[in-house]
Amino acid sequence: MADFCPMEPITDPTAKAAVLHDDRSHVFHSWSAQAALNPMAIAAAEGSYVYDYDGNEYLDLSSQLVNTNIGHQHPAVVAAIAAQAQRLCTIAPQHANDVRGEAARLITERAPDGFTHVFFTNGGTEAVEHAVRMARLHTGRPKVLSLYRSYHGGTGLSVNLTGDPRRWPNDSGTAGVVHFFGPFLYRSPFHSTTEAEECSRALEHLEQTILFEGPSTIAAIILESIPGTAGIMIPPPGYLAGVRELCDRYGIVYIADEVMSGFGRAGEWFAIDLAGVTPDLITFAKGVNSGYVPLGGVIISAPIVETFAERVYPGGLTYSGHPLACAAAVATISTMAEEGIVEHAKHIGDSILAPGLLALQERHPVIGEVRGTGVFFALDLVSDRATKEPIAPYGGTSPTMVALGAAMKAEGLLPFMNYHRLHIVPPCTISEAEATEALARLDRALGAIDDAYVG
Ligand SMILES: Cc1ncc(COP(=O)(O)O)c(C=O)c1O
Repeated sequence: MADFCPMEPITDPTAKAAVLHDDRSHVFHSWSAQAALNPMAIAAAEGSYVYDYDGNEYLDLSSQLVNTNIGHQHPAVVAAIAAQAQRLCTIAPQHANDVRGEAARLITERAPDGFTHVFFTNGGTEAVEHAVRMARLHTGRPKVLSLYRSYHGGTGLSVNLTGDPRRWPNDSGTAGVVHFFGPFLYRSPFHSTTEAEECSRALEHLEQTILFEGPSTIAAIILESIPGTAGIMIPPPGYLAGVRELCDRYGIVYIADEVMSGFGRAGEWFAIDLAGVTPDLITFAKGVNSGYVPLGGVIISAPIVETFAERVYPGGLTYSGHPLACAAAVATISTMAEEGIVEHAKHIGDSILAPGLLALQERHPVIGEVRGTGVFFALDLVSDRATKEPIAPYGGTSPTMVALGAAMKAEGLLPFMNYHRLHIVPPCTISEAEATEALARLDRALGAIDDAYVG
């Protein structure tokens, strides 16, 4: 694994002021009320670290939006992008291109057996849109089932498939989208007390949903193999196999959304590998090239490829299979394979993050549950372990969460937070020493909110 030496801190108040001036004057930010924004100005990033202009260095426990799986500025990926830029920056999608073909081959080789082709997109939400379009055309059915606790993207259909509150203000085109509850023992919607009970009740609920919606109207079920932004809930053993079985029984396409959980994040190439289940379509983005150049796509199994053998697939994108993005994917996947980065992510999870976070749970009652695998962990933060009262409301934040974020930054940690949860999602390349140091800093930061526990 490439050895990153932290850079020298950067102190440049003039540059910071200029960056913030242009940003606040002209950049319209995602998912935000614009007036109150106070973004952090980033000067540089390398490996597991991000640098501001005030001389601060942060360990990136967010991987930005959970995408820099190979770490920041990996030299092999940067060099591949530079070389491709010298050779051929862009070429239209109708042409055959070496890096596009190689990226597709490397991706299908890592998918379960039976996946032969890749349709490339610019990111995750487009991958979801196209996967659903393929499923609808393949089955001739209109509806799609997805989880309440889910995120599938920000465009028209993907945001309707999303279960979390970002759907609410955008929920004007839900025709054909039906939500259901997945398994989540800690906050069980089914009053279960064991994983086995949660699994069978969640499958029974899904089958009832299918029957009452009308199986002959359902094209697809889309599921994150491990729901990510919604809380990193690893499905209980047997659940995804049960979903596969229901899809087979009712002729429904199974779409595994691996946009966040894929490419090493869960300690496997795809999180679905943990369940040993083969879906019909897989959506990916983020970790495929760590977001160095935007890229996503749909990995397509042979029967769905066959549907479009003689029939035109009615969809496309100017930048489908963009050479710079594909060169970055080839370099990322090859380097991850050569350097054992997926295995490393599993090792960091098993040997440092899981035991370390469980130890923090013993010291800080505010941690109601620790969930996760690989470099994909969530802390469910509660004010009372008995009632499991979240320390921020669903869809909102709270002074306690704001205080935790500030305490983490003061300790030199970049956090990823969602409502009452803190996600620990560093790059897959984080070293043992960095992960251990991150836990020590997190321990101190959590001290700032210990008082929020009143149970
Ligand atoms: C599981 C999942 N699907 C889809 C998306 C949308 O991806 P993008 O933001 O690249 O459009 C995300 C983004 O976080 C995601 O986590």
